[in-house]
Amino acid sequence: MERKISFIGVGPGDPDLLTIKASKEIKSAEVILWTDSLIPKKIIRLSNKNSEKIKTSGMNLKQIMKLMIDKYREGKKVIRLHDGDPCLFGAINEQIIILKKENIKVEVIPGISAFQITAAYHQAELTVPEVTQTIILSRYKGRTGMPEKESLKNLAKLKSSLCLYLSARHVGITQKTLLEFYDPSTKVIVGHRVSWDDGWTEIINLKDMEIFSKEKKLIRTTIYIISPALDQLNKTSNLYNPNYQHLFRRI
Ligand SMILES: C[S@@+](CC[C@H](N)C(=O)[O-])C[C@H]1O[C@@H](n2cnc3c(N)ncnc32)[C@H](O)[C@@H]1O
Repeated sequence: MERKISFIGVGPGDPDLLTIKASKEIKSAEVILWTDSLIPKKIIRLSNKNSEKIKTSGMNLKQIMKLMIDKYREGKKVIRLHDGDPCLFGAINEQIIILKKENIKVEVIPGISAFQITAAYHQAELTVPEVTQTIILSRYKGRTGMPEKESLKNLAKLKSSLCLYLSARHVGITQKTLLEFYDPSTKVIVGHRVSWDDGWTEIINLKDMEIFSKEKKLIRTTIYIISPALDQLNKTSNLYNPNYQHLFRRI
């Protein structure tokens, strides 16, 4: 079998939400590098008891990569765990570039992202016909370089379903900017450590987003889904309309 290092999306926290592939990899790995600040211990408990488990939240990129490469060169099966789906704010790019320079093959295994479990807990469809057909996954800019064309103002102008990661620290300016475009009564799902043992979600109005977040002292592991689709229980798509013909169903 070809040797490689796998980057694995472990989903939002609940081990039952792992893909079968991710779960197999965790069980068979000999060395597991995991971000202990974002991944609950429950996921790590699925691993082989003899595997080496390395917490990376206190390490810099150079330290992480040295360990990963050294262990791989020792002939070990090495995996790197990321919360949710690795393609979303996973900072996998810089790691993969280094591994490729070392001629080490890489595989990425997708996971369920925080927005998906948060919407699922509320049985929410974020693409209701005539209301919005677009989901934006983004964040308030913070210290990370953000292109001006994707400023929160520009995203909010669309009034689509907007899922904001990494934004709880900036909730005041976020709410103020959103209120320039969305109605104050627009529903917002707030999710904190969703699917963790102590996690929760709640629906509030956009006008209360800042006060609610401050009352709950939300800073980390919080997602907001702002969407005009969240109070559209009477709107239906054409898919099940008896007069609507499609490839698999003729009238
Ligand atoms: C570095 S980003 C990684 C996102 C991840 N790759 C994903 O797809 O969900 C971390 C942020 O994702 C969000 N997040 C991740 N897991 C979460 C959870 N279980 N509950 C709420 N928010 C979560 C929070 O905004 C958190 O600050």
